[in-house]
Amino acid sequence: MAKTRTEFLCRECGGNHPKWMGKCPDCGAWDSLERFSVEVEPTKAGSAPIWGAPADGTDAEELARSGIGRAVALGSVPEAQVPRVPTGISEFDRVLGGGVVPGSVMLLGGDPGIGKSTLLMQVAAAVAARGGCALYASSEESPQQVRLRAERLEPVVRAGGAAKLGDRLLVMGEGNVARIVEQARRSHPALVLVDSIQLVHRADVSAAPGSIAQLRRCCLDLVGLAKSTGCGVVLVGHVTKDGGLAGPKLLEHLVDVVLSFEGDRHSAIRVVRGVKNRFGSTQEIGLFEMRGDGLAEVEAVRVPHGAGPAAPGCAFVATMAGTRCLLGEIHALVATGFLGSTKRKSSGLDSSRLAMLIAVLEKHGGLRLADQDVFVQSLGGLKIAEPAADMAVALAIAGAFYNRVLPQGAVAIGEVGLTGELRAVPQIEQRVHESLRRGARIVFVPSSARVGLPPKLPPTSRSGDLGDGQIVKVGTIAAALEFLSPAQRGLTTEPKPSASDRKVRAGGGETGAAHGGHKSIS
Ligand code: TYD
Ligand code: MG
Repeated sequence: MAKTRTEFLCRECGGNHPKWMGKCPDCGAWDSLERFSVEVEPTKAGSAPIWGAPADGTDAEELARSGIGRAVALGSVPEAQVPRVPTGISEFDRVLGGGVVPGSVMLLGGDPGIGKSTLLMQVAAAVAARGGCALYASSEESPQQVRLRAERLEPVVRAGGAAKLGDRLLVMGEGNVARIVEQARRSHPALVLVDSIQLVHRADVSAAPGSIAQLRRCCLDLVGLAKSTGCGVVLVGHVTKDGGLAGPKLLEHLVDVVLSFEGDRHSAIRVVRGVKNRFGSTQEIGLFEMRGDGLAEVEAVRVPHGAGPAAPGCAFVATMAGTRCLLGEIHALVATGFLGSTKRKSSGLDSSRLAMLIAVLEKHGGLRLADQDVFVQSLGGLKIAEPAADMAVALAIAGAFYNRVLPQGAVAIGEVGLTGELRAVPQIEQRVHESLRRGARIVFVPSSARVGLPPKLPPTSRSGDLGDGQIVKVGTIAAALEFLSPAQRGLTTEPKPSASDRKVRAGGGETGAAHGGHKSIS
């Protein structure tokens, strides 16, 4: 008969300890150890298996060839092909690295109401519409509730309704993991979706759903299902107040892929981001927009240049998310505050970089912001952490301060150094070409950037004429400020340029050349 052994697992890090302690020695968390019983199979003396070796006793030669139990030259290990099955939701497939790897387990975390269940149902319907079988097990909703939502979703509507998908889209309102696994073994789905792992339980574990003991056992059962049948498993995980996945880190260790579903409560844009991916990069993101018929895939933001003049305090930037280039819209507001207690707030942007940019604008741009509140925001819930957004943020702040606008359809790409110079950023060519493809008329880049117009766009050669598809090279932030022109309609009055500001304008001539800036139109 199998014996049981008591272990203590840490709720925070998943660390395993033989006895209870007030503080977990692995992660230092206090009062985080929970008692947990494990069944121990009696092993015969001297029959300890080699790690990773099959239990059926494959011969030693075979093991040596596969590199298990004996070291082999890395070059002689046969290359493994990672097959991927696209789900049909291309933004989701992009984050996974091209599709679901058969036998892999994915964990999708996100705030309540962000759209996790919606995304999962859309993925299930897309798989079914492509001829695969998907099993959607909801421990939170009844099958009727699941159908009610599913009938509104675009992939289901496109397929002609849930009835048309037949038994390729299976739904069960079940929280018992044994029944989910049994159903999956019977119906051989390509994808099993469990919504959510926190409410799934095992009858033989005497702990509440969501406890560390239940999470570990249920997750292991589902990992076992994926590895033994080759189906993909997607688990929904709840997040805590600070945005981390609820439950032990152990859950994240057990699965192959951890995805985070993010978005601004006040915006319809949703972003799926890879946090961990054993089979691909975590740099990629998937963009969606929540609409009445579910999540629509978003390809990219466009630069609006046809509809009226640009607004003061508004600038566009081309930012990289993995291999993909996205256009971000930055808005700034500068308002009179109290000297000594001014507010500097950023949303979707790095707040320490904002402080640095304000200082550079004061020192090298001639702006007097000491008694001004500065608010900067990246629109649409897009988080931009890279320095490539510096020039756009600085131009947005200066535009808001002077009530001046950038030329229509302008995109600014470049890092601002502490000396006020503009520095080149990686993948500048891709950023510039993507901006032009997305409707930009003028792209401001640092002077040191080596970039030309893509061959398709007709170059305009007349110097000083900011027509379609131009690249304007700028040396310093002071020179970049020269491109701001008075807003045609504005609510605030333009502040009088300060002495240093006048110097920039006078000395800079057309483009601020006195400050090392130059313009070349290629
Ligand atoms: P849901 O997928 O239930 O979120 P989660 O599983 O992450 O808790 O989505 C909930 C929200 O999405 C809900 O507030 C309504 C909104 N929604 C839409 O706007 N359009 C839709 O088509 C659907 C299905 C939901
Ligand atoms: Mg849900």
